[in-house]
Amino acid sequence: MHTQEHLQKIGVIGLGLLGADIVALILSRGLNVVAADLDSDARQQLPQRVSTALSELIEHGGAKQGDFDGWQDRLQIENSCAKFQNCDFIIESVAEDAKIKAAVFSSIEEVVTADTPVSTNTSGLPLSDFQQQLKHPGRFLGMHFCQPAYAQPFMEIIRGEQTNDSTFGAAHRLGLMLGKEPCLINRDLPGFVVNRIGYAMYREAANLVAEGVSDFASIDNAVRNTLGVFMSMTGPFRWMDISGGPALYGRAMKTIWPTLDNSDSPPEFIQEMIDQNDRGAVSGKGFYDYQSGDGELWDKAFRQHVWKLLKLRREEEGQEDFPDQ
Ligand SMILES: NC(=O)c1ccc[n+]([C@@H]2O[C@H](COP(=O)([O-])OP(=O)(O)OC[C@H]3O[C@@H](n4cnc5c(N)ncnc54)[C@H](O)[C@@H]3O)[C@@H](O)[C@H]2O)c1
Repeated sequence: MHTQEHLQKIGVIGLGLLGADIVALILSRGLNVVAADLDSDARQQLPQRVSTALSELIEHGGAKQGDFDGWQDRLQIENSCAKFQNCDFIIESVAEDAKIKAAVFSSIEEVVTADTPVSTNTSGLPLSDFQQQLKHPGRFLGMHFCQPAYAQPFMEIIRGEQTNDSTFGAAHRLGLMLGKEPCLINRDLPGFVVNRIGYAMYREAANLVAEGVSDFASIDNAVRNTLGVFMSMTGPFRWMDISGGPALYGRAMKTIWPTLDNSDSPPEFIQEMIDQNDRGAVSGKGFYDYQSGDGELWDKAFRQHVWKLLKLRREEEGQEDFPDQ
């Protein structure tokens, strides 16, 4: 049984974009990390990346100078999972490639005890397929982070077909210890929860353009100024409750749902963008056009927005008259 006292040393394998953030998150919460990557650059860059993340938490995230003192003593950096044997929980965040991940899980199983939870940060590979190749599938599950993982309260915890209750419970406890607001997911579905909801919206938005009903900028503005405002405060269910209730929304569902798009492939204009490999702000061409450097500007603006939103949430939730979620 992995109680809170037993979740003190976490093994993280894969120290790329997400993995380095995850290491910073765990260290920021006072736990110990054994961090592994086969790439020497990723290993060398890790301390600087952790230091930058912790400074951001002090500058923007409500942490105080001194809160993270001594984090270097709690970080051990390795070139493989060979030193994971005393870890209480493993987080895998290597490249999104089923073969690479399966080989990593097999190496982890050689090292850790049979009941040590092993989680994957995969965004889309089926957990249950990995479980079929594992010696101890019950201790395996999904733990899905988003960027920046050291700041955003988002986390999805996903059961594969064979995940046992003790593993699921340990992941939930670890999520709470890391300051997350975990979304518990009882079934391994493509896109888990949040991407399914996002893709339902992208499909309808694309359909409205394909049908000539509206254009990219009009739709973006409409969503930013309505859904974008309330969704940073409430999710869809709380929103329906405070703006009419299930009876009202339920009646509207009967009228609107039958008219929503349910295509199983993107419209032609998106297929053309796929064929041209339009990568948006990165390549200069997407739904809008971009100049060189715009990609970095949007990335920076997005990060600043996240910090401001998190500050607003801390302020609001500290107000006496702000309702509990
Ligand atoms: N980038 C995101 O926004 C995001 C969000 C949520 C989840 N994810 C998921 O997180 C995982 C990692 O994504 P990323 O964007 O950090 O990728 P990345 O390419 O930045 O990093 C992957 C790291 O894994 C290392 N690696 C590869 N094979 C390895 C092995 N056998 N042993 C040890 N290390 C190995 C690489 O050297 C690299 O440092 C993926 O499964 C991805 O789907 C990414």
